[in-house]
Parts: sequence; C-alpha cells; structure tokens
Amino acid sequence: MSSGDRAAAALLSWYVDMGVDEALAAAPLNRFRGTSPPSGPAEGEADRGGVGQAVPAATLQELRSAVENFHGCALRTDANRTVFADGNPEAGLMLIGEAPGREEDRVGLPFVGAAGKLLDQMLAAIGRDRTSAYITNVVFWRPLNNRTPTDEEMAACLPFVRTHVSLVRPRAILLLGAASARVLLGTRLGISKLRGQWHEISVGDLSPVPALPTFHPAFLLRQPARKADAWEDLRRLQRHLDTA
Ligand code: URA
Repeated sequence: MSSGDRAAAALLSWYVDMGVDEALAAAPLNRFRGTSPPSGPAEGEADRGGVGQAVPAATLQELRSAVENFHGCALRTDANRTVFADGNPEAGLMLIGEAPGREEDRVGLPFVGAAGKLLDQMLAAIGRDRTSAYITNVVFWRPLNNRTPTDEEMAACLPFVRTHVSLVRPRAILLLGAASARVLLGTRLGISKLRGQWHEISVGDLSPVPALPTFHPAFLLRQPARKADAWEDLRRLQRHLDTA
C-alpha cells in the first residue's frame, strides 16, 4: 500500500468513527476550489468564518490526543512530530499560524524557528509572551520543504482547529498569514485585503470570536517594510483586548 493509499484508508476509517456512513456523490467535491468560495464573502462583505465541522473533544488534552491519533492528513506521513500548540490557553488571545517548519518539526512546538523569534518580539510589543498568548497552526504537521499546505491538507485539519477554538474560547484570535486567514474565514481574498480588519469566527454555540488577520512573521522577515502595517494591526488587537 502506498502512503497515499494509507492516508486515504485512514481518512475513511476516521469518517466512519465520526459517524459519516454515506457518500453523497460518486466524485469528491473540493469546496475550497473555484472562482469564489461557497460560503465565503464577496469582496467588501463582512466575514463570519463558519466553514468545517468541529470534532468531539471535551478538553484540550482530549483534542491533542485526537490529533495525535488522526491519520487522515497526508502531511503526517513525512513529519517527525505532531505540533499541537504552545502557550497559555487561558490567556484570552489565540494566535493561529500556517504550518510547522523544520525547527518546529524537530522540537514539537509551534513558532520556535526564525519566524517564531520575530513572533515573540511582536508579542512583546503588546506586552505579552507565551504565558499570555496561546499559539497553534492550521495544520499540525510540517509540509516538506516548508511549502504552503494544500487546501485539502488544511481541510483535513480544520475540524480539529475549529474544536481548538471552541475549547480555548479566546477573546480574540490573531490570524497569521494568508493560509490561516483564508481557511478559517472561508475566503479567497488575499492577506493584503484581509489584514487589519476584524472578522468573526463562529464555532458551534460559541459567540462569534473576533479574528484579526495580519501578515505572517516569515513574510515580515522577507518584507521588513511591511512591519509598520503589522504594528498597526497589533495595536488594534491590543486596543480590543484592553476593552473586551
Ligand atoms: N510558521 C508557522 O506558520 N507556524 C509555525 O509553527 C512556524 C512557522
């Protein structure tokens, strides 16, 4: 059996465990592909990210072990470690990045490489650190060569990420980079259009969580001139946290 076959078999078995017992169409429908997202907003409309279901888990520990036992995302075949989260889930602030890189895959924690060092500085700029922020990604395994995860890889992990949000119940979410913003807001708009404006992520019965997209720290390392925009976004975030 190839690793692709094993991933497909594992995904099917996970669907069965989750109570999915019927195929609605002979061919799969990729709802992330197309000229506009099925549930995403038109340009200029407000977002209420609500795509993807949640998975059953009553605690973060249960969720972590559900992720560790999940074989439905092809990324994990080549990864050394599952990278679940770091920081303080009680902090009120949740940061969601894109995907673990080489260092994260080695250590098993998000944002511990070069981009992570810049992220720590960004947090320090608003008086926070990893004891006062909670950090995760939209996929839990490193894509080889640090490529952007595919829509399918992000879709496979999305139910876990949504459950993650519902268990942490943050007062605000900072979405780091285009991939994170697009999958969680269900939009195809680029990060330059999305950044700096509040959106909402709705999960289950939870009141919608305010979510602010900003540039990914790895992008800021390549384009330091955009740090001024990110700083503006961080100040907006801080104002929200101070008043919420
Ligand atoms: N980039 C991310 O998006 N996440 C990490 O954990 C590290 C780098």
